[in-house]
Amino acid sequence: MFKRTLKWYKIFESKEELLDFFGPWKTALFKNTFGEIMLAREEESFYAFKNRCPHQNKSLEGCSIQDGFVICPWHKYAFSCETGRGHGLYLEKYPIKFEEEGVFVGKEGWSLFG
Ligand code: FES
Repeated sequence: MFKRTLKWYKIFESKEELLDFFGPWKTALFKNTFGEIMLAREEESFYAFKNRCPHQNKSLEGCSIQDGFVICPWHKYAFSCETGRGHGLYLEKYPIKFEEEGVFVGKEGWSLFG
C-alpha cells in the first residue's frame, strides 16, 4: 500500500553556505530537482516555502519578510512564517533542519515501500 512519507533533501553543505546564498537579503529563491523553494530568514529563524503564492499561484520571487510574515510581492498578502496561514489561505511550507552533514528541506510524498 502507498504510504505518505517525509523525504529530506540536502540543499546546502552547511549553514554558512546557506547564509552565503542569502547574501544581504532576507529571502532567496532556490532551484534544484526538488523544485523551487522560497527561502526566508528572520533573525535566527529560517523558513522554506513552495514558490507559489496560494492567492493566484504566482511566484514569490521578490517577496519580503516582516514581523514573522512573508509578504507576497504581487498583492501584498501576508502569510505567517510559522503556519503558512494568511487571508484564509495556506502557503505551503517545508520543514528545514540543520545537521552536521548539511541543511535539509523536507517534502511529503507518497511511497510504495514506506
Ligand atoms: S498572487 Fe500573492 S497575493 Fe496575489
